[in-house]
Amino acid sequence: MTPAERLDDLRRKIRHHEEQYYVYNDPEIIDAEFDALMRELSNVENEYPELATPDSPTQRVAGRPIDTFETVQHGTAMLSLENAYTENDLLEFDERVKKIVGEISETGLVPYVAELKIDGLSISLTYEKGQFVRGVTRGDGLRGEDVTSNVRVIKSIPLRLADDLVNTFEVRGEIFLPRHSFDRINKERNRSGQALFANPRNTAAGTMRNLDPEKVLRRGLGAFVYQLIPRADGLSDQPVSEAAISDLPKSHAETLEKLQQLGLPIEPHWRRCDGIESVLTFCREWIENRYSLQFGADGVVIKIDDLELRKRLGSTSKFPRWAIAFKFPTEQVTTRLLRIELKVGRTGAVTPIAILDPIRIGGSTIQLATLHNEQEIRRKDIRPGDMVVVEKGGDVIPKIVKVISSLRPSGSSAPRSFLMPKNCPECSVRLHRPEGEAITRCINTSCPAKLRRSLTHFACRRAMNIEGLGESLVHQLVGRGLVRELSDLYTLDRLALEGLDRMGKRSVTKLLDQIERSKKNSFTRFLFGLGIRHVGEHAAQFLTQTYNSIDALMDASLESLETVTEVGPVVARSVRVFFDDAENRSLIIRLRTAGIKMSIADTNPSQKTQTLKGRVFVLTGTFSSVTRNQAIHAIEDLGGKVSASVGKKTTFLVIGDKPGSKATKARSLGVKILNEVEFCELLEHGNN
Ligand code: IVH
Repeated sequence: MTPAERLDDLRRKIRHHEEQYYVYNDPEIIDAEFDALMRELSNVENEYPELATPDSPTQRVAGRPIDTFETVQHGTAMLSLENAYTENDLLEFDERVKKIVGEISETGLVPYVAELKIDGLSISLTYEKGQFVRGVTRGDGLRGEDVTSNVRVIKSIPLRLADDLVNTFEVRGEIFLPRHSFDRINKERNRSGQALFANPRNTAAGTMRNLDPEKVLRRGLGAFVYQLIPRADGLSDQPVSEAAISDLPKSHAETLEKLQQLGLPIEPHWRRCDGIESVLTFCREWIENRYSLQFGADGVVIKIDDLELRKRLGSTSKFPRWAIAFKFPTEQVTTRLLRIELKVGRTGAVTPIAILDPIRIGGSTIQLATLHNEQEIRRKDIRPGDMVVVEKGGDVIPKIVKVISSLRPSGSSAPRSFLMPKNCPECSVRLHRPEGEAITRCINTSCPAKLRRSLTHFACRRAMNIEGLGESLVHQLVGRGLVRELSDLYTLDRLALEGLDRMGKRSVTKLLDQIERSKKNSFTRFLFGLGIRHVGEHAAQFLTQTYNSIDALMDASLESLETVTEVGPVVARSVRVFFDDAENRSLIIRLRTAGIKMSIADTNPSQKTQTLKGRVFVLTGTFSSVTRNQAIHAIEDLGGKVSASVGKKTTFLVIGDKPGSKATKARSLGVKILNEVEFCELLEHGNN
């Protein structure tokens, strides 16, 4: 085999195994064998750099973050689908179709294809001569956003098609977040004290709007395609005259087969259905089985199979007349509401939560439901002990739709109406609900529940990044009175810590070390960590850029705060309220005394000098003086980026103990390699 043939062979094999793994969830080889193929490909490419191609599997690396997404006009509008909610709606659709197209066949049955309706966001992908060149979101249907750099990191989407097509194609489909990725992300967010994502669809949509492909890569998105649009000359978006393309599919079933042959990800459960009855059977089957899927499906899309027939039906300005979306009914179950518990949040908001008799719904067992606030409970007349109808929509946490009042016992055994307690369930201090507001709050600054949540937020990865200070430790620290406010973290006693559950000498040393390190965090992280209502990471960044120190910020007037970019009147007021509070001001003094840096100038060159801006780092092996997490944050704080794999854009490979194959690759690409000491020096003294 010539090197070129060997490369071609390896790339095809790798693509095949990627497809088996990422599309069909059915790997044929083990990870180590796959890694060996990748290594071999990388070696051959390094040996023959002139044979490297941009669509090689080795090039599926996250590019640099981009500034903005360009707006792109779609060649053909990306339409939506008409919805059907009942079997009758589908029968009517079938009748409409027959009326328009007349006699179809001897049997009179319309040939359809039924597919699962994937609960994600639509995407348009363009391939030029078999090579992926552009990915665009649906947007308003006429213009979308160019998200090519994010599409490139979705492993089920091939960068090169299996056929060396001369023509240019646009394919359309759906991007989604598989259930297992969603669960993993929320588990990680829970661990680091971040708010959980509500559902996979919104998470997928939000992820695609992330400007940093590295973050998109880590999320683990998937994709399926279902439409093929031939184009004349690539990105010019002119539909091609059909005569120019040979071998065009005549039916939708053929289209799906063609897409699959090309190596594109197809949702495999589609079925050809002769007549609407057969479609109804498909829908019934999937109402039952929808939760066995690895992705969210919210219905079935029914499409006329024959493409010629489709043309005769045409489209309205919004929907094609040749297709309809049958939406799965929202699953509802009945269970008993055992009791209503109250949760006190970081800002003191007291939210009622329904504790249910555990029941299966939407493929999982649930025992909690949101109740939002007191008024909602009253409006729906929900009482502890009632039988209630629970619904699980797209969101993780289900909601109570209504009470089955006919099942409510009457007389003396009737359940009592829920009354919001007058005092905080955690600290017994009187609760407040300002006139006209829906939310009841605990305003006691030393309420243990608020303190626990403030601490977990303060310590979370995006704020002060104190590893090891998770919920259970925080519970113990507050419960035993070791921490009464944030600043107590910085005077924790070693012996007292060693007396806590699961805190051996080593864990204590590690924790104290982490706490000590946190003092050097940037002013922005600290400000975000304070947990001021409405001050997220974004607002914190703009505030610290405008007011370079906590003193300047504490003294800023409401009018001045309101002029800060990204800070509206709500955030401005919240900042003022926080710093007008005498207790908060003295907390700041105690934290400052503890040694926390509270200004941009304070030992924190990162915000001033961004010494690593434009540098891309890859880390490999284990480090002795910093954790991987800390190294990543240190780089990012100085304006640098961290990427998962070595590529042409990598500036430095930092090697710890037992480095992997990345070092070989870095050497072959001429990427500068730093050991741990050199890396630490670079962080300290910049990039000289
Ligand atoms: S066909 C002309 N097939 O559902 C529109 N759409 O509610 C052709 N969707 O915008 C769309 N799965 O984003 C089609 N198997 C499937 C689908 C699907 C999900 C989405 C698509 C569309 C939306 C309409």
